[in-house]
Amino acid sequence: MTTVITVCDTCKSETTLTPDAPEKDGAKLATLIEAANQENSDVVVRRHSCLMGCSHGCNIAIQAPDKLTYVLGRFEPIEEAAKGIVEYATLHSQSALGQVPFKQWPQAIKGHFVSRIPTLTKAADQE
Ligand code: FES
Repeated sequence: MTTVITVCDTCKSETTLTPDAPEKDGAKLATLIEAANQENSDVVVRRHSCLMGCSHGCNIAIQAPDKLTYVLGRFEPIEEAAKGIVEYATLHSQSALGQVPFKQWPQAIKGHFVSRIPTLTKAADQE
């Protein structure tokens, strides 16, 4: 099942590597993620302006129907982060419920998790 990476394209990173650049750090990260994901049919990348985590950018979300959603932040707009995000999203797509074992996490995403959101399906099942 396809996993979607939503990248905030208006974020500034915590260290604001490019404070005066016309392109926001989030847009730079989105471009790098799109490039890292070019050959990957398991993952789709989309951009969205502001995920409301502005104080800890750059932010992304990883989602798929009937799977756990993860929000991650504090990324710098660098290739290493982009590759780790795509690798993690690919593992998310290959998992049954969106849970990726810690030992499989790419180093680049460790320490970047902000929140985990359960599926709506489970909440609907409880009603
Ligand atoms: S600008 Fe990226 S979360 Fe608000």
